[in-house]
Amino acid sequence: MSDIITVKAPVNIAVIKYWGKRDEDLILPLNDSVSATLDTSIMCAKTSVCARPEFKENEIWLNGKKETFQSPRLQNCLKEIKSRAAAENSVNEDFLQWKVRVCSENNFPTAAGLASSAAGYACLVTALAKLYKVKSDVSSIARLGSGSACRSVYGGFVRWHAGTNPDGTDSVASQIEGSAHWPEMHALILVVGDTKKKTSSTTGMRISTQTSELLKHRIKYCVPQRTDEIIQAIKQKDFPKFAEVTMKDSNQFHAVCLDSYPPFVYMTDVSHLIVDLIHKYNELSGSTKVAYTFDAGPNACLYLLEEEVPQVLSFIRHVFPSSNPELFVTGLKTNEVTLNPELK
Ligand code: DP6
Repeated sequence: MSDIITVKAPVNIAVIKYWGKRDEDLILPLNDSVSATLDTSIMCAKTSVCARPEFKENEIWLNGKKETFQSPRLQNCLKEIKSRAAAENSVNEDFLQWKVRVCSENNFPTAAGLASSAAGYACLVTALAKLYKVKSDVSSIARLGSGSACRSVYGGFVRWHAGTNPDGTDSVASQIEGSAHWPEMHALILVVGDTKKKTSSTTGMRISTQTSELLKHRIKYCVPQRTDEIIQAIKQKDFPKFAEVTMKDSNQFHAVCLDSYPPFVYMTDVSHLIVDLIHKYNELSGSTKVAYTFDAGPNACLYLLEEEVPQVLSFIRHVFPSSNPELFVTGLKTNEVTLNPELK
């Protein structure tokens, strides 16, 4: 019988977006991406795993509901962990044969474009790696669950290298800088809606890869330069540059969704209102103080420096008077504000 292993994994929010795959089975991306990993105290996934000889089947519960273990992504992650464990000789042969039980929870809306799969798979793979005592880098295994999950394996600012090997061995994440490098950096999550998105990231990426001319242009001419620029901005703690690249990349990603055929949209009118407000705020401030970025959903992630947090929060509360200030916790890297549901 094994101990029950429980781990927490953070959400990461990309500033250079991953959008499009060159290999759907191995989850190999068309482009490098860059993200920041948020503090686990507000948004995280929590997963417990154990293996026992008496278990008849592998079983998984997600947010209290039993789900199928048959998903190829889940199977691939478990298979890869076990083959690493066998290669590293970290557990005995019997243990590898036992079935596992997985129980996972998110403390934020699932599938609403809040990187829940990233935290979820990073968490699952980290927990399994502990269970099977795997010591080597697990970002490439988390990638097999959900591409963006490979970035949640590291804290701070993280780059996922697209790599060029057909087997994906060089498609791994690495840390650009730890969070201590730029402790003033904060993220503010504005929850616009928590309904499940109509077009999943996986489906959306497939449509864009097959049909969008803008995506081809983005990958060839925009992402490489932006990746260099944002890494330099992070290293030099140049917030205005970091913010400009972040906003431009988010806007281009959503333009790619519209350029896809058939097109699909993730941002709502409230999301667009937030974009306008942030540009207005920056204009009134005389320099770029806040950046927005949107994943495959309507919710905004604002990146800003700590000194700006109180003013931005009061600005948001002024525009969305019934936003919930109780959810805001000072001093953390992530703060969550729920916007007025009537404005959805
Ligand atoms: C818009 O990692 O969820 O959040 O690899 O198909 O599981 P799959 O997709 P996923 O896509 C995330 C896309 C994004 C951008 C990003 O996080 O880089």
